[in-house]
Amino acid sequence: MSNKEKIRPTIFVIFGGTGDLNARKLAPALYNLFLDGWLPAQFAILSTGRTKLTDEAFRDRVREDINKFSRRGKVKAEKWEEFSQHMTYQVSDLNDAATYTQFGEHVAQHEAEWNAAAQVIYYLAVSPNFFPIIARNLSEAKLAEDPDRVRIVIEKPFGHDLETAKELNDLLAGIFQERQIYRIDHYLGKETVQNIMAFRFANAILEPLWNRNYIEHVQISVTEQLGMGERGDYYDGSGALRDMIQNHLLQLLCLVAMEPPVGFEADEVRNRKVDVLRAMRRFGPEEVRSAAVRGQYGKGWVEGKEVPGYREENKVDPDSNTETFAAIKFFVDNWRWQGVPFYLRTGKRLHRSASIITIQFKDVPHLIFPTESAEAWHQNRLVISIQPEMSIRLQVQAKRPGLDMVLNRVDMVFDYQGTYTNDTPEAYETLLLDTMLGDQTLFMRGDQVEAAWDLIMPILNAWESKKSMNFPNYSADSWGPEIAEALIARDGFHWFTLPLTDKKEC
Ligand code: BG6
Repeated sequence: MSNKEKIRPTIFVIFGGTGDLNARKLAPALYNLFLDGWLPAQFAILSTGRTKLTDEAFRDRVREDINKFSRRGKVKAEKWEEFSQHMTYQVSDLNDAATYTQFGEHVAQHEAEWNAAAQVIYYLAVSPNFFPIIARNLSEAKLAEDPDRVRIVIEKPFGHDLETAKELNDLLAGIFQERQIYRIDHYLGKETVQNIMAFRFANAILEPLWNRNYIEHVQISVTEQLGMGERGDYYDGSGALRDMIQNHLLQLLCLVAMEPPVGFEADEVRNRKVDVLRAMRRFGPEEVRSAAVRGQYGKGWVEGKEVPGYREENKVDPDSNTETFAAIKFFVDNWRWQGVPFYLRTGKRLHRSASIITIQFKDVPHLIFPTESAEAWHQNRLVISIQPEMSIRLQVQAKRPGLDMVLNRVDMVFDYQGTYTNDTPEAYETLLLDTMLGDQTLFMRGDQVEAAWDLIMPILNAWESKKSMNFPNYSADSWGPEIAEALIARDGFHWFTLPLTDKKEC
């Protein structure tokens, strides 16, 4: 049976139906799944929110959102008519038991109409303080009882620290089985991120090189050009470490560092990732000082427009100690990676948005060419570019054509755009489809989330207990604070950026 045929009648209940995530990601993803024939004939989407809206008004709103945010652009009238008939809206008070009774009635009504039992996916696209409230209410309304039919999807942030993540895990474990819980890290749904496992484990040539004997260091860099926008109230209580490192960047690190799983089953893959997190060297106060740096952006100019500093952003404390940039040097203490530094950096309002992983290989053991032949010498690098460029480059030395022996760097490039013609699905399309298929491979298991929190807690605690005296320490449109350059320069390296044609930066 193909995956398409496996999908049972499905009802999505989306909490946060009028929110930003639904507008930008969930609604366009569901619509694209529909266009691609991935939604079963019997499906329904019940969105809920506090705003009073009729079904019609809600549909109009979603149509606008899809027109704006879908990778396919504006909806086509006929398809939209068909799709939107599956969507309804319910105004709801999430603290009120009656809300959940109505959900139950809604589900029962569809099942009667379809004459089939449906799987129900509760999607929590709301602020995290509602997670426990919704879970408890679903349980009390007896809507969470059938583990074969009911799933719950939890958006990040999953916990605010280790303790709160454990509390949330415990609460969920009292209501749902782990196989019903889908903790989102949307990076795992990105096509280029999924490809890391394919690239590593479907190609025999990499494995012999993929270890401390050949790899000198690894960099994972997720830089963003955008500032706070309207997210100041969330972000000011979070910061770069919680918002990006604890989840997205550590997951990328796991994909690079994990051992080959025995098979492609969800738990096999997730076991190998947890192994990495557990093997990562813990930070004491001295390591926090020497191996972790933070930054906060000040004002500056971006593409000819003046932009405010972080402390002047909407809904941000004017005296905020929240970091908008973090760079950390990690080690994975196991046989494969002993002694290989993993440098992670991320930040807002940086010079360019780019997510790239660079694996730098060790130098040749002996250079046979005269120095003048090798002026532009570079060690081999493998650069996995996740976004916006979607590519994998292997950088090697080659002889420049001519009568002299002159070496220069050339890139062997696999680039998605040139290789594939079909549109790449958005991360949320993959993730929503997987929740329907009951495949948890790309979702975070409870112990993974806790292991990641456990790792960063000493840094979080140190940064929160000691206010940074030099914030803001980088200006908008730069590459971050100088201490981040120093962190990596001390080891004789520098941060890589794309495009690599930019001489200054490679
Ligand atoms: C989110 C963070 O999880 O990821 C945001 O909360 C960040 O702060 C975003 O901007 C980055 O995601 P993407 O897919 O745009 O790289």
